[in-house]
Amino acid sequence: MSERLRIEPLHKAFGARVTGAKLTEPLSQEVLAEIRDAIDRYSVLCFPEQEMTDARHLAFTEQLGAPEVEHVAFGNTGEVTYFGTVGNAQADGSHLGNSAANTRYQRGNEMWHSDSSFREVPSYVSILHAYEVPGEGGETLFASMRSAYADLPESLRVEIDPLYVVHDYVFSRSQVAPVDPNHAASLPPVMHRLVRENLGTGLKNYYVGSHARSIPGYSGMESRRVLDELLDRATRPENVYAHAWQAGDTVIWDNRCMLHRGAGYDADRWRRRMRQTRVVGGERGELLGARPS
Ligand code: OGA
Ligand code: MN
Repeated sequence: MSERLRIEPLHKAFGARVTGAKLTEPLSQEVLAEIRDAIDRYSVLCFPEQEMTDARHLAFTEQLGAPEVEHVAFGNTGEVTYFGTVGNAQADGSHLGNSAANTRYQRGNEMWHSDSSFREVPSYVSILHAYEVPGEGGETLFASMRSAYADLPESLRVEIDPLYVVHDYVFSRSQVAPVDPNHAASLPPVMHRLVRENLGTGLKNYYVGSHARSIPGYSGMESRRVLDELLDRATRPENVYAHAWQAGDTVIWDNRCMLHRGAGYDADRWRRRMRQTRVVGGERGELLGARPS
């Protein structure tokens, strides 16, 4: 497929390990196009041994599109930053334990989700770089709503095709920790089509996850039945890829069609230090079906 990138599949349905590119240097249009195509095709890309810094990470992010303003800092204080900090490591060399408020808050990432599905314009990709990883645990699990959609019985595909879903950050996250009232006020519930299509490839997928709260027109019980069944189908163990991080890995995933979750780790025992950016959706047709008109 490529003269420049070496692509090795990681799982039967999605995922690839990509070598031959330094994301930390400006990339040619050709290599960027190959990375975009690989995102469309493989949904999760791991680039090992990247000599990352925040400045390089943001520069790479901007080559893929508009960086998304990180919603926690913005919601709480109005601060505009493009980075989320994942893990428990502190700048002074210490690390937060299992009982710290921030560790508990991050446990929300252990529910299957698609990043920023609760935004009016959800994200295209997330880019997560690992600086320090636990000696045990701390994997990130991935599952494809595209291959799960392809495997649906026809009756369920017909049922879900016209439906919309309310996505609500406060609904999902208040299940693990209280959401700051300012943060909550910045993220009112939004509505997206349940079935989306990548206009570049024509491939369809459904779009659920922890932020998916309800289906307009359905009772609460019926909403949960459909949303839970779709989540269960996508995340059956044989359909999951667990990424065991190495320090230096930069992983890009396609939020338009993928679910992910943290596997968890013992924060009392281990340090974990990762930085994340996201690219705003909107290019290459990923907004098709994003909102009712
Ligand atoms: C994220 C996320 C899971 C993990 O960074 O968006 O959900 O393994 N991370 O930390
Ligand atoms: Mn996430």
